[in-house]
Amino acid sequence: MKTILSGIQPSGILHLGNYFGMMQPSIELQSQGQALYFIAEYHALTTVNKADELRRYTFEAAAAFLACGLDPARTILFRQGDVPEVHELAWLLSVVTPMGLLERATSFKDKTAQGLETNHGLFAYPVLMAADILLYNSDLVPVGKDQKQHLEIARDIAQKFNDRFGVVFKLPEPVIREATAIVPGNDGRKMSKSYGNIIPLFGEEKEIKKPVMSIKTDSTPIDQPKQIEGTVLGQLMQAVNPGAYQAFVEQAATPGVGYGDLKKKLLTEIEERFRPFQEKYRHYQAHPGEVEAILQDGAKRARALALPVLAKARQATGLSR
Ligand code: TRP
Repeated sequence: MKTILSGIQPSGILHLGNYFGMMQPSIELQSQGQALYFIAEYHALTTVNKADELRRYTFEAAAAFLACGLDPARTILFRQGDVPEVHELAWLLSVVTPMGLLERATSFKDKTAQGLETNHGLFAYPVLMAADILLYNSDLVPVGKDQKQHLEIARDIAQKFNDRFGVVFKLPEPVIREATAIVPGNDGRKMSKSYGNIIPLFGEEKEIKKPVMSIKTDSTPIDQPKQIEGTVLGQLMQAVNPGAYQAFVEQAATPGVGYGDLKKKLLTEIEERFRPFQEKYRHYQAHPGEVEAILQDGAKRARALALPVLAKARQATGLSR
């Protein structure tokens, strides 16, 4: 039985990029083995510095996973902070991680380039991520394309540890869906909170409408056919409703159809696709105790899997116990 693991950072409002890049593929994979999905609070702390925000985003991420179809009877849903043993493993991995490997990490370089104040947590981020993965002997890690390099680093670290101390860890495989690996935001760049170009997954109608209606388009006049292939509108439609994509392309090619009409069509598709999830999400918001109980049960099950792996790593390095 394969172990499938992934994590999501509770560092902001969830958006379509999170859903198509990571949540949907993770939820689809849950029937293929023992899945563990967690809310990466420690990682989020490298950028979120208000306790209330961290708590709120953590709850929202858990509620969103449940609303979108995570089955808590089968899949282990937990908060990273409920299994703090991950830090002990992170240290054991730190001592085999070359500085150069972390210096080359693009997400660290990007954050530095954005002018974010750097901290050791941001630098050590990939080591903690490797610990998340290796602590559960994970086979498959469904992630968005932006996490590909972090997965390669995790494999490198596992290999280095095994070479130095004997074989303890499996080398995890990333699962990256090329089709929806990068969901564009309304300005055409990757959809990301830090670019301010997101379409929220669960928002009030107007919170979703506003970014959709401001999707970047060209200046083709209304009476000219519009090219959809490869555009932001096209890529989003393909993600949201692939079955309606061809009709959308044809609609766009019809003279007299404007970009405003096409955006409205996309908006309707988004609303329809996420309405059932939205209803469940509201349910969990009204019953936070249900989410808490699921997370606590998940923490127990996750720890039970983690402790023997940590014990083996301790043993291999010469620590007592
Ligand atoms: N770095 C991931 C992200 O930002 C979140 C994450 C933390 C993760 N630990 C993980 C993903 C372990 C997969 C496996 O999306």
